[in-house]
Amino acid sequence: MLLSLRHRTLLAPMEGVTHPTLRRLLASHGGVGMLCTEFVRISRAPIAPKTLRAAVVKVPGIPLSVQVMGNDAAKMAEAAGLIARAGADVVDINLGCPMPRVVRKGVGAAMLKDPELLARVLGAMRGEVPGALSAKIRAGFDESDDVLRIAEVVQNAGVDFLTVHPRRRCDYYEGVADWRIVRTLRERLDIPVVGNGDVWYARDALRLEAETGCDAVMIGRPALRNPWIFRQIDELRRHASPFRPTGDDVFAWLLRVREAYDATFPRTVGKLKELLSWIGRAVDDGGAFRRSALRAPDVDAILRLAERTLRRLPAERLDLDAEGTLALERSGSAVAA
Ligand SMILES: Cc1cc2nc3c(=O)[nH]c(=O)nc-3n(C[C@H](O)[C@H](O)[C@H](O)COP(=O)(O)O)c2cc1C
Repeated sequence: MLLSLRHRTLLAPMEGVTHPTLRRLLASHGGVGMLCTEFVRISRAPIAPKTLRAAVVKVPGIPLSVQVMGNDAAKMAEAAGLIARAGADVVDINLGCPMPRVVRKGVGAAMLKDPELLARVLGAMRGEVPGALSAKIRAGFDESDDVLRIAEVVQNAGVDFLTVHPRRRCDYYEGVADWRIVRTLRERLDIPVVGNGDVWYARDALRLEAETGCDAVMIGRPALRNPWIFRQIDELRRHASPFRPTGDDVFAWLLRVREAYDATFPRTVGKLKELLSWIGRAVDDGGAFRRSALRAPDVDAILRLAERTLRRLPAERLDLDAEGTLALERSGSAVAA
C-alpha cells in the first residue's frame, strides 16, 4: 500500500497553481491523501534556504510530496536530501514537464529519452533520501513504445512509487489520457502505480482504479474546476451519497479563497481569475459568468458578480456532481472566452 495513505488520492503538482495556500484550501474539503508541490528547479546552485522553506509547507495530517526537476545527479541528490530532512514526506522527480523552455535544458520530459541519465540521477537521489522517493512520468517523449522500459529503470533505481500521466510529451495536454498505459505499468511493475489524467469527475477516479488496478489516483486540473472532487471520491468509496455543490457553496468557496489569497499575495485578482477560469466552466449559463468574471476590474467586482449570478444557482445548473460528461465544455459555450 502506498505510504499507508488515509485516502488514495493525490493533488497533482501544478506550477504556479498548487501553492501552499491553495493546497490548504483544497485539503480543507477533505478526502485528499497527499498534497504535491510544483517542481523546484535544481540547476547548478544548491537549493536556497528560502526556496526550501517555500516548498516544504505542510498541512497538518496530510503527507507532502515535494517535486524536484533537474538532471545533475549530484545536485539533485543534494537537494533531495535537504528536502527530505526539511520534512517532506516524499521527494518526487519531474520526468514529465513538456514545456519547450524545460525540455530544451534536457530536464522534465526530456529525461524520458535518456534511461542511463535517469538511472544515474535517481540512483544518486536514492542514496540521499531515507524516506519515500517517487517519480512522475509521461507516456514517453514522441512515442509511448518505451514506457515500460522507462518505468523499469525508475523501479530498478529503488523508487518507492511511480505516477504516470499517460500522454506523450508531444501531446502536451491535448487528446485523451491513455489509461491502458496505467494498467500495463500496474500489471508489470512491483512498485505501486498512481494513475493520473482526465479524472474530471469523482466517478472517473473509481473507473480509473477499476480499469487499471492503480494504487491511487492523482488529480490536477479537475480539482480547480471542482474543489470538492476529493470529498466526492471519498463519499463514493464509502458508498455515501456524494456532495452536490450549489451556487451558495461556490460563492462561499470564492469568499474563502479571497480571504486566504488577500493574506498571501500582493494582488489577489489575477490568482482568483486563474481559479475562476476553471470553475466558470462548470456553470450552465453559456459562459456568461466566466466571461464577465475574467473581465472584471477587481476582486470586489468579481465577488459582486458572483453574488448576483452564481449564488442563486441550484446544483442542477452547475456541472459539479460526482459524475458527468463535460457536456458544457464539449458544447463550447462554457469555455468560449
Ligand atoms: C498549470 C499546470 C501546471 C503543471 N505543473 C506541473 C508540475 O510542476 N509538475 C508536474 O509533474 N506536473 C505538472 N503539471 C501536470 C499535472 O500534474 C498533471 O499531470 C496533468 O495536468 C494531468 O492531470 P489532470 O488531468 O488531473 O490535470 C501541470 C499541469 C498544469 C495544467
